[in-house]
Amino acid sequence: MAVRFDFTNMLAPACSGGLPADTLATAAASFAGAVADVKARRAAGTLGFPMLPDDAALRATLQADALASRDEIDDVVLCGIGGSALGPNMLRSALRPPRWNELDRAARGGWPRLHVMDNVDPVSMGALLDRVDLTRARVLVISKSGGTAETMSQYLVIRERLEQLGGAWPKTVLRFITDPEKGVLRAIARTDGIITYDIPPSVGGRFSVLTPVGLAPAAFIGIDIDALCVGAAAMRARCETETLTENPAGVFAVLQQRHDQINGRSIHVLMPYADALRDVANWFVQLWAESLGKVLPGGGNVGPTPLPALGATDQHAQVQNFMEGPHDKTVTFIAVEKFDRDIAIPSLHADYPDLSYLGGNTIGGLLDAERRATAGALASSGRPNGVLQIPHVDAANVGELIMLFEFATAFAGALYGIDAYDQPGVELGKQFTYGIFGRPGFEAERDRFDQLPQPDPTCII
Ligand code: PA5
Repeated sequence: MAVRFDFTNMLAPACSGGLPADTLATAAASFAGAVADVKARRAAGTLGFPMLPDDAALRATLQADALASRDEIDDVVLCGIGGSALGPNMLRSALRPPRWNELDRAARGGWPRLHVMDNVDPVSMGALLDRVDLTRARVLVISKSGGTAETMSQYLVIRERLEQLGGAWPKTVLRFITDPEKGVLRAIARTDGIITYDIPPSVGGRFSVLTPVGLAPAAFIGIDIDALCVGAAAMRARCETETLTENPAGVFAVLQQRHDQINGRSIHVLMPYADALRDVANWFVQLWAESLGKVLPGGGNVGPTPLPALGATDQHAQVQNFMEGPHDKTVTFIAVEKFDRDIAIPSLHADYPDLSYLGGNTIGGLLDAERRATAGALASSGRPNGVLQIPHVDAANVGELIMLFEFATAFAGALYGIDAYDQPGVELGKQFTYGIFGRPGFEAERDRFDQLPQPDPTCII
Protein backbone atom coordinates (compact mmCIF):
# COMPACT_ATOMS: atom_id res chain seq x y z
CA MET A 1 0.00 0.00 0.00
CA ALA A 2 1.87 3.07 -1.21
CA VAL A 3 -0.61 5.91 -1.65
CA ARG A 4 -2.54 6.73 1.50
CA PHE A 5 -5.40 9.15 2.00
CA ASP A 6 -5.53 10.97 5.33
CA PHE A 7 -9.02 12.49 5.62
CA THR A 8 -8.88 13.45 9.30
CA ASN A 9 -9.47 17.12 8.51
CA MET A 10 -12.42 16.41 6.22
CA LEU A 11 -14.45 15.48 9.28
CA ALA A 12 -15.54 17.05 12.54
CA PRO A 13 -14.30 17.40 15.19
CA ALA A 14 -10.77 17.76 13.73
CA CYS A 15 -12.20 20.46 11.48
CA SER A 16 -15.24 22.39 12.66
CA GLY A 17 -16.41 22.77 9.05
CA GLY A 18 -16.00 19.06 8.47
CA LEU A 19 -18.68 16.47 7.86
CA PRO A 20 -20.11 14.52 10.81
CA ALA A 21 -17.72 11.89 12.12
CA ASP A 22 -20.13 9.10 11.18
CA THR A 23 -20.30 10.18 7.51
CA LEU A 24 -18.68 7.04 6.14
CA ALA A 25 -20.96 4.82 8.17
CA THR A 26 -24.07 6.62 6.96
CA ALA A 27 -22.80 6.65 3.37
CA ALA A 28 -22.28 2.90 3.21
CA ALA A 29 -25.58 2.20 1.45
CA SER A 30 -25.16 4.86 -1.23
CA PHE A 31 -21.58 3.74 -1.75
CA ALA A 32 -22.85 0.19 -2.29
CA GLY A 33 -25.04 1.64 -5.06
CA ALA A 34 -21.99 3.34 -6.61
CA VAL A 35 -20.01 0.10 -6.51
CA ALA A 36 -22.93 -1.71 -8.15
CA ASP A 37 -23.07 0.96 -10.87
CA VAL A 38 -19.36 0.57 -11.66
CA LYS A 39 -19.64 -3.22 -11.61
CA ALA A 40 -22.62 -3.20 -13.94
CA ARG A 41 -20.85 -0.95 -16.43
CA ARG A 42 -17.77 -3.17 -16.33
CA ALA A 43 -19.88 -6.28 -16.83
CA ALA A 44 -21.65 -4.62 -19.77
CA GLY A 45 -18.27 -3.84 -21.33
CA THR A 46 -18.86 -0.08 -21.35
CA LEU A 47 -16.39 0.86 -18.62
CA GLY A 48 -12.95 -0.21 -19.71
CA PHE A 49 -10.44 1.88 -17.73
CA PRO A 50 -10.00 -0.55 -14.80
CA MET A 51 -8.69 -3.34 -17.04
CA LEU A 52 -6.10 -1.27 -18.89
CA PRO A 53 -3.13 -2.18 -16.65
CA ASP A 54 -3.48 -5.82 -17.71
CA ASP A 55 -2.46 -5.34 -21.35
CA ALA A 56 1.20 -6.36 -21.15
CA ALA A 57 1.30 -7.23 -24.87
CA LEU A 58 0.34 -3.67 -25.82
CA ARG A 59 3.07 -2.27 -23.59
CA ALA A 60 5.66 -4.57 -25.15
CA THR A 61 4.64 -3.37 -28.63
CA LEU A 62 4.86 0.28 -27.62
CA GLN A 63 8.22 -0.22 -25.93
CA ALA A 64 9.59 -1.98 -29.02
CA ASP A 65 8.39 0.88 -31.24
CA ALA A 66 9.94 3.45 -28.90
CA LEU A 67 13.24 1.61 -28.76
CA ALA A 68 13.42 1.08 -32.51
CA SER A 69 12.71 4.80 -33.07
CA ARG A 70 14.96 6.17 -30.36
CA ASP A 71 18.20 6.65 -32.28
CA GLU A 72 16.42 8.02 -35.34
CA ILE A 73 14.64 10.88 -33.61
CA ASP A 74 15.16 13.93 -31.42
CA ASP A 75 11.55 14.98 -30.95
CA VAL A 76 8.11 13.53 -30.45
CA VAL A 77 5.31 15.93 -31.38
CA LEU A 78 1.90 15.10 -29.97
CA CYS A 79 -1.19 16.40 -31.74
CA GLY A 80 -4.11 16.18 -29.33
CA ILE A 81 -6.29 18.09 -26.91
CA GLY A 82 -8.22 17.43 -23.69
CA GLY A 83 -8.03 13.80 -22.65
CA SER A 84 -5.69 13.15 -25.55
CA ALA A 85 -3.09 15.59 -24.24
CA LEU A 86 -3.43 16.16 -20.48
CA GLY A 87 -2.44 12.60 -19.55
CA PRO A 88 0.74 12.53 -21.65
CA ASN A 89 1.67 15.95 -20.31
CA MET A 90 1.19 14.75 -16.74
CA LEU A 91 3.34 11.66 -17.30
CA ARG A 92 6.19 13.66 -18.78
CA SER A 93 6.30 16.23 -16.00
CA ALA A 94 5.87 13.66 -13.22
CA LEU A 95 8.16 10.92 -14.47
CA ARG A 96 10.93 12.62 -16.42
CA PRO A 97 13.45 15.04 -14.96
CA PRO A 98 12.39 18.69 -14.74
CA ARG A 99 12.61 20.75 -17.93
CA TRP A 100 12.96 17.57 -19.98
CA ASN A 101 12.79 19.32 -23.33
CA GLU A 102 15.62 21.66 -22.38
CA LEU A 103 18.05 18.86 -21.50
CA ASP A 104 20.62 17.64 -23.99
CA ARG A 105 20.38 14.16 -25.43
CA ALA A 106 22.83 12.61 -22.96
CA ALA A 107 20.95 14.04 -19.99
CA ARG A 108 17.76 12.59 -21.50
CA GLY A 109 19.38 9.16 -21.57
CA GLY A 110 19.15 9.17 -25.37
CA TRP A 111 15.37 9.59 -25.38
CA PRO A 112 13.70 12.32 -27.46
CA ARG A 113 11.98 15.47 -26.31
CA LEU A 114 8.17 15.42 -26.09
CA HIS A 115 6.07 18.38 -27.24
CA VAL A 116 2.37 18.18 -26.38
CA MET A 117 0.53 20.71 -28.56
CA ASP A 118 -2.76 20.72 -26.59
CA ASN A 119 -4.02 23.88 -28.30
CA VAL A 120 -4.33 25.65 -31.60
CA ASP A 121 -2.53 28.84 -30.67
CA PRO A 122 -0.76 29.86 -33.89
CA VAL A 123 2.15 31.51 -32.08
CA SER A 124 3.11 28.52 -29.96
CA MET A 125 2.40 26.07 -32.78
CA GLY A 126 4.51 28.08 -35.19
CA ALA A 127 7.36 28.41 -32.70
CA LEU A 128 7.38 24.66 -32.13
CA LEU A 129 7.29 23.75 -35.81
CA ASP A 130 10.05 26.28 -36.56
CA ARG A 131 12.44 24.35 -34.38
CA VAL A 132 11.46 20.70 -34.86
CA ASP A 133 13.15 18.74 -37.65
CA LEU A 134 10.29 16.53 -38.82
CA THR A 135 12.71 14.18 -40.55
CA ARG A 136 14.03 13.32 -37.08
CA ALA A 137 10.69 13.15 -35.28
CA ARG A 138 7.70 11.00 -34.55
CA VAL A 139 4.33 12.70 -34.75
CA LEU A 140 1.67 11.08 -32.60
CA VAL A 141 -1.81 12.14 -33.70
CA ILE A 142 -4.11 11.25 -30.83
CA SER A 143 -7.87 11.52 -31.06
CA LYS A 144 -10.42 9.06 -29.75
CA SER A 145 -13.10 10.37 -32.10
CA GLY A 146 -10.62 10.85 -34.90
CA GLY A 147 -12.24 14.12 -35.85
CA THR A 148 -11.63 16.81 -33.22
CA ALA A 149 -11.14 20.12 -35.06
CA GLU A 150 -8.13 21.25 -33.02
CA THR A 151 -6.26 17.96 -33.33
CA MET A 152 -7.10 17.54 -36.99
CA SER A 153 -5.89 21.07 -37.69
CA GLN A 154 -2.61 20.35 -35.91
CA TYR A 155 -2.30 17.21 -38.02
CA LEU A 156 -3.10 19.00 -41.30
CA VAL A 157 -0.45 21.64 -40.63
CA ILE A 158 2.16 18.97 -39.92
CA ARG A 159 1.07 16.75 -42.78
CA GLU A 160 1.54 19.59 -45.24
CA ARG A 161 5.04 20.20 -43.91
CA LEU A 162 5.82 16.52 -44.29
CA GLU A 163 4.56 16.54 -47.87
CA GLN A 164 6.68 19.60 -48.57
CA LEU A 165 9.71 17.49 -47.75
CA GLY A 166 9.10 16.08 -51.22
CA GLY A 167 9.24 12.62 -52.67
CA ALA A 168 7.98 9.71 -50.70
CA TRP A 169 8.23 11.25 -47.25
CA PRO A 170 8.50 8.49 -44.71
CA LYS A 171 5.07 7.53 -43.39
CA THR A 172 6.94 6.05 -40.43
CA VAL A 173 7.10 9.58 -39.00
CA LEU A 174 3.41 9.29 -38.12
CA ARG A 175 1.56 7.26 -35.52
CA PHE A 176 -2.20 7.52 -35.20
CA ILE A 177 -3.86 6.68 -31.87
CA THR A 178 -7.61 6.47 -32.30
CA ASP A 179 -10.78 4.37 -32.24
CA PRO A 180 -10.32 0.92 -33.82
CA GLU A 181 -13.05 1.48 -36.39
CA LYS A 182 -14.53 4.96 -36.46
CA GLY A 183 -13.35 8.39 -37.58
CA VAL A 184 -11.35 10.07 -40.29
CA LEU A 185 -7.99 9.22 -38.75
CA ARG A 186 -8.74 5.52 -38.95
CA ALA A 187 -9.75 5.89 -42.61
CA ILE A 188 -6.55 7.78 -43.48
CA ALA A 189 -4.48 5.24 -41.59
CA ARG A 190 -5.98 2.45 -43.69
CA THR A 191 -5.38 4.27 -46.97
CA ASP A 192 -1.85 5.42 -46.15
CA GLY A 193 -0.68 2.41 -44.16
CA ILE A 194 0.13 4.45 -41.06
CA ILE A 195 1.05 2.62 -37.88
CA THR A 196 -1.96 2.94 -35.60
CA TYR A 197 -2.70 2.06 -31.98
CA ASP A 198 -6.24 1.56 -30.74
CA ILE A 199 -8.09 3.42 -28.02
CA PRO A 200 -10.63 0.91 -26.70
CA PRO A 201 -14.20 2.09 -27.36
CA SER A 202 -15.05 1.44 -23.71
CA VAL A 203 -12.53 4.04 -22.49
CA GLY A 204 -13.48 7.72 -22.70
CA GLY A 205 -10.92 10.39 -23.51
CA ARG A 206 -10.36 11.65 -19.98
CA PHE A 207 -9.99 8.08 -18.66
CA SER A 208 -7.55 7.08 -21.41
CA VAL A 209 -4.12 7.84 -20.00
CA LEU A 210 -3.34 4.12 -19.54
CA THR A 211 -4.27 3.34 -23.17
CA PRO A 212 -1.80 4.18 -25.98
CA VAL A 213 -2.95 7.80 -25.47
CA GLY A 214 -0.62 8.06 -22.48
CA LEU A 215 1.46 4.92 -22.79
CA ALA A 216 2.78 5.56 -26.31
CA PRO A 217 4.22 9.03 -25.66
CA ALA A 218 5.45 7.82 -22.26
CA ALA A 219 7.25 4.86 -23.84
CA PHE A 220 8.76 7.12 -26.49
CA ILE A 221 10.48 9.17 -23.79
CA GLY A 222 11.63 6.17 -21.78
CA ILE A 223 9.11 6.16 -18.94
CA ASP A 224 8.70 2.80 -17.24
CA ILE A 225 5.15 2.08 -18.39
CA ASP A 226 5.24 -1.41 -16.86
CA ALA A 227 5.78 0.08 -13.40
CA LEU A 228 3.06 2.65 -14.07
CA CYS A 229 0.60 -0.17 -14.73
CA VAL A 230 1.80 -2.25 -11.79
CA GLY A 231 0.95 0.69 -9.54
CA ALA A 232 -2.40 1.21 -11.25
CA ALA A 233 -3.29 -2.46 -10.83
CA ALA A 234 -2.35 -2.35 -7.14
CA MET A 235 -4.67 0.61 -6.60
CA ARG A 236 -7.41 -1.07 -8.63
CA ALA A 237 -7.38 -3.95 -6.17
CA ARG A 238 -7.96 -1.50 -3.31
CA CYS A 239 -10.69 0.32 -5.22
CA GLU A 240 -12.59 -2.87 -5.95
CA THR A 241 -13.42 -3.53 -2.32
CA GLU A 242 -17.02 -2.93 -1.42
CA THR A 243 -16.12 -1.91 2.13
CA LEU A 244 -16.12 1.85 1.96
CA THR A 245 -13.65 2.39 4.79
CA GLU A 246 -11.07 0.27 2.94
CA ASN A 247 -11.63 1.85 -0.45
CA PRO A 248 -9.54 5.03 -0.94
CA ALA A 249 -11.37 6.10 -4.10
CA GLY A 250 -14.70 5.48 -2.43
CA VAL A 251 -13.76 7.54 0.62
CA PHE A 252 -12.45 10.36 -1.58
CA ALA A 253 -15.60 10.37 -3.72
CA VAL A 254 -18.05 10.17 -0.82
CA LEU A 255 -16.38 12.95 1.14
CA GLN A 256 -16.11 15.30 -1.84
CA GLN A 257 -19.68 14.66 -2.98
CA ARG A 258 -21.10 15.13 0.52
CA HIS A 259 -19.08 18.25 1.15
CA ASP A 260 -20.47 19.60 -2.13
CA GLN A 261 -24.10 18.57 -1.85
CA ILE A 262 -24.62 18.69 1.92
CA ASN A 263 -22.02 21.11 3.14
CA GLY A 264 -21.99 23.73 0.36
CA ARG A 265 -18.37 23.09 -0.58
CA SER A 266 -18.52 22.80 -4.33
CA ILE A 267 -14.99 23.90 -5.18
CA HIS A 268 -12.54 21.04 -4.95
CA VAL A 269 -8.94 22.14 -4.85
CA LEU A 270 -6.15 19.69 -5.69
CA MET A 271 -2.84 21.03 -4.43
CA PRO A 272 0.29 18.93 -4.90
CA TYR A 273 3.36 19.96 -2.95
CA ALA A 274 5.80 18.97 -5.70
CA ASP A 275 6.47 20.63 -9.03
CA ALA A 276 6.57 17.19 -10.65
CA LEU A 277 2.92 16.66 -9.73
CA ARG A 278 1.62 20.04 -10.86
CA ASP A 279 0.17 18.52 -14.03
CA VAL A 280 -1.57 15.80 -12.02
CA ALA A 281 -3.77 18.63 -10.78
CA ASN A 282 -4.36 19.86 -14.33
CA TRP A 283 -5.26 16.34 -15.51
CA PHE A 284 -7.58 15.89 -12.51
CA VAL A 285 -9.39 19.13 -13.35
CA GLN A 286 -10.59 17.74 -16.68
CA LEU A 287 -11.46 14.36 -15.18
CA TRP A 288 -13.52 15.84 -12.34
CA ALA A 289 -15.08 18.77 -14.26
CA GLU A 290 -16.07 17.08 -17.49
CA SER A 291 -17.26 13.91 -15.78
CA LEU A 292 -19.32 15.43 -12.98
CA GLY A 293 -20.66 18.79 -14.19
CA LYS A 294 -23.96 17.61 -15.66
CA VAL A 295 -27.70 18.05 -15.99
CA LEU A 296 -29.51 15.53 -13.79
CA PRO A 297 -31.78 13.07 -15.63
CA GLY A 298 -34.82 14.71 -14.00
CA GLY A 299 -33.53 18.25 -14.53
CA GLY A 300 -31.33 20.46 -12.39
CA ASN A 301 -27.59 20.89 -12.48
CA VAL A 302 -24.87 19.31 -10.37
CA GLY A 303 -21.13 19.08 -10.27
CA PRO A 304 -18.18 20.32 -8.26
CA THR A 305 -15.72 22.83 -9.70
CA PRO A 306 -12.17 21.51 -9.52
CA LEU A 307 -9.39 24.02 -8.96
CA PRO A 308 -5.69 23.30 -9.44
CA ALA A 309 -3.14 24.77 -7.07
CA LEU A 310 0.53 24.20 -6.30
CA GLY A 311 2.22 24.20 -2.93
CA ALA A 312 4.01 26.20 -1.73
CA THR A 313 3.62 28.65 -4.64
CA ASP A 314 -0.13 29.12 -4.19
CA GLN A 315 0.25 29.81 -0.50
CA HIS A 316 1.21 33.23 -1.82
CA ALA A 317 -1.65 33.45 -4.30
CA GLN A 318 -4.74 31.39 -3.46
CA VAL A 319 -4.48 30.30 0.18
CA GLN A 320 -5.71 33.65 1.50
CA ASN A 321 -8.98 32.89 -0.29
CA PHE A 322 -9.00 29.27 0.95
CA MET A 323 -8.60 30.56 4.52
CA GLU A 324 -10.91 33.57 4.56
CA GLY A 325 -12.98 33.43 1.38
CA PRO A 326 -16.40 31.77 1.24
CA HIS A 327 -16.80 28.40 2.96
CA ASP A 328 -17.20 26.73 -0.42
CA LYS A 329 -14.04 24.65 -0.81
CA THR A 330 -12.32 21.45 0.10
CA VAL A 331 -8.57 21.21 -0.35
CA THR A 332 -6.78 17.95 -1.14
CA PHE A 333 -3.02 18.11 -0.79
CA ILE A 334 -0.65 15.66 -2.42
CA ALA A 335 2.38 15.17 -0.19
CA VAL A 336 5.61 13.45 -1.20
CA GLU A 337 7.39 11.69 1.65
CA LYS A 338 10.79 11.46 -0.02
CA PHE A 339 12.09 13.61 -2.83
CA ASP A 340 14.68 12.30 -5.30
CA ARG A 341 17.09 14.80 -3.89
CA ASP A 342 17.16 17.41 -1.20
CA ILE A 343 19.16 20.55 -0.63
CA ALA A 344 20.48 21.72 2.71
CA ILE A 345 19.64 25.28 3.71
CA PRO A 346 22.95 26.72 4.88
CA SER A 347 23.39 28.21 8.32
CA LEU A 348 24.42 31.74 7.44
CA HIS A 349 23.81 35.16 8.95
CA ALA A 350 23.83 33.94 12.55
CA ASP A 351 23.40 37.56 13.62
CA TYR A 352 19.95 37.74 11.98
CA PRO A 353 17.67 35.32 13.86
CA ASP A 354 14.80 36.15 11.48
CA LEU A 355 16.86 34.50 8.75
CA SER A 356 19.19 32.08 10.51
CA TYR A 357 16.29 29.91 11.81
CA LEU A 358 16.11 28.46 8.29
CA GLY A 359 19.67 27.12 8.43
CA GLY A 360 20.21 23.44 9.22
CA ASN A 361 16.91 22.47 7.57
CA THR A 362 16.40 21.35 4.00
CA ILE A 363 14.41 22.71 1.08
CA GLY A 364 12.29 19.53 1.01
CA GLY A 365 11.77 19.81 4.76
CA LEU A 366 10.58 23.38 4.35
CA LEU A 367 8.11 22.36 1.63
CA ASP A 368 6.69 19.61 3.82
CA ALA A 369 6.51 21.85 6.89
CA GLU A 370 4.61 24.42 4.84
CA ARG A 371 2.15 21.79 3.67
CA ARG A 372 1.53 20.58 7.21
CA ALA A 373 1.26 24.15 8.47
CA THR A 374 -1.25 25.07 5.74
CA ALA A 375 -3.35 21.97 6.45
CA GLY A 376 -3.36 22.79 10.15
CA ALA A 377 -4.21 26.43 9.55
CA LEU A 378 -7.08 25.50 7.25
CA ALA A 379 -8.45 22.93 9.68
CA SER A 380 -8.26 25.32 12.61
CA SER A 381 -10.25 27.83 10.54
CA GLY A 382 -12.97 25.28 9.82
CA ARG A 383 -11.74 24.61 6.27
CA PRO A 384 -11.91 20.89 5.38
CA ASN A 385 -8.83 19.35 3.83
CA GLY A 386 -7.29 15.96 3.18
CA VAL A 387 -3.92 14.67 2.09
CA LEU A 388 -2.93 12.04 -0.41
CA GLN A 389 0.48 10.88 0.74
CA ILE A 390 2.84 9.21 -1.68
CA PRO A 391 6.18 7.77 -0.61
CA HIS A 392 8.05 8.99 -3.67
CA VAL A 393 7.32 10.33 -7.17
CA ASP A 394 7.84 7.28 -9.35
CA ALA A 395 5.93 5.43 -12.06
CA ALA A 396 4.22 2.96 -9.72
CA ASN A 397 2.98 5.66 -7.36
CA VAL A 398 1.76 7.87 -10.20
CA GLY A 399 -0.05 4.81 -11.59
CA GLU A 400 -1.71 4.44 -8.19
CA LEU A 401 -2.82 8.07 -8.17
CA ILE A 402 -4.24 7.78 -11.68
CA MET A 403 -6.31 4.71 -10.83
CA LEU A 404 -7.47 6.24 -7.55
CA PHE A 405 -8.75 9.40 -9.23
CA GLU A 406 -10.40 7.47 -12.08
CA PHE A 407 -12.26 5.17 -9.68
CA ALA A 408 -13.17 8.15 -7.50
CA THR A 409 -14.68 9.85 -10.54
CA ALA A 410 -16.66 6.76 -11.46
CA PHE A 411 -18.00 6.43 -7.89
CA ALA A 412 -18.74 10.16 -7.68
CA GLY A 413 -20.71 10.00 -10.94
CA ALA A 414 -22.96 7.37 -9.43
CA LEU A 415 -23.28 9.29 -6.14
CA TYR A 416 -24.33 12.44 -8.01
CA GLY A 417 -26.75 10.36 -10.10
CA ILE A 418 -25.32 11.40 -13.46
CA ASP A 419 -23.53 9.81 -16.40
CA ALA A 420 -19.84 10.53 -15.73
CA TYR A 421 -18.74 9.27 -19.13
CA ASP A 422 -20.34 11.65 -21.63
CA GLN A 423 -19.81 15.37 -22.27
CA PRO A 424 -22.93 16.71 -24.03
CA GLY A 425 -22.21 20.19 -22.75
CA VAL A 426 -19.27 20.67 -25.10
CA GLU A 427 -21.25 19.76 -28.21
CA LEU A 428 -23.03 23.04 -28.94
CA GLY A 429 -19.80 25.05 -29.02
CA LYS A 430 -18.27 22.43 -31.34
CA GLN A 431 -21.28 22.59 -33.66
CA PHE A 432 -21.16 26.39 -33.80
CA THR A 433 -17.45 26.13 -34.70
CA TYR A 434 -18.24 23.68 -37.49
CA GLY A 435 -20.98 26.05 -38.70
CA ILE A 436 -18.66 29.08 -38.64
CA PHE A 437 -16.05 27.10 -40.60
CA GLY A 438 -18.64 25.94 -43.14
CA ARG A 439 -18.48 22.23 -42.42
CA PRO A 440 -21.08 20.45 -44.58
CA GLY A 441 -24.09 19.37 -42.54
CA PHE A 442 -23.79 22.22 -40.02
CA GLU A 443 -25.66 24.94 -41.95
CA ALA A 444 -28.44 25.06 -39.33
CA GLU A 445 -25.90 25.61 -36.56
CA ARG A 446 -24.38 28.41 -38.62
CA ASP A 447 -27.80 30.03 -38.92
CA ARG A 448 -28.49 29.56 -35.25
CA PHE A 449 -25.15 31.09 -34.37
CA ASP A 450 -25.79 34.06 -36.66
CA GLN A 451 -29.10 34.69 -34.91
CA LEU A 452 -27.49 35.00 -31.49
CA PRO A 453 -27.54 38.52 -30.03
CA GLN A 454 -24.80 40.64 -31.55
CA PRO A 455 -22.40 42.63 -29.34
CA ASP A 456 -24.32 45.59 -27.87
CA PRO A 457 -22.31 48.80 -28.31
CA THR A 458 -23.60 50.04 -24.95
CA CYS A 459 -21.97 47.03 -23.32
CA ILE A 460 -18.54 47.71 -24.79
CA ILE A 461 -16.24 50.26 -23.17
O1 PA5 B 1 -12.85 13.27 -22.19
C1 PA5 B 1 -13.16 13.45 -23.36
O2 PA5 B 1 -13.74 12.59 -24.02
C2 PA5 B 1 -12.80 14.73 -24.09
O3 PA5 B 1 -12.31 15.70 -23.25
C3 PA5 B 1 -11.78 14.43 -25.16
O4 PA5 B 1 -10.62 13.92 -24.58
C4 PA5 B 1 -11.41 15.66 -25.99
O5 PA5 B 1 -12.56 16.31 -26.45
C5 PA5 B 1 -10.59 15.23 -27.21
O6 PA5 B 1 -11.33 14.31 -27.97
P1 PA5 B 1 -10.68 13.33 -28.99
O7 PA5 B 1 -9.71 12.45 -28.28
O8 PA5 B 1 -11.83 12.58 -29.57
O9 PA5 B 1 -9.98 14.17 -30.03
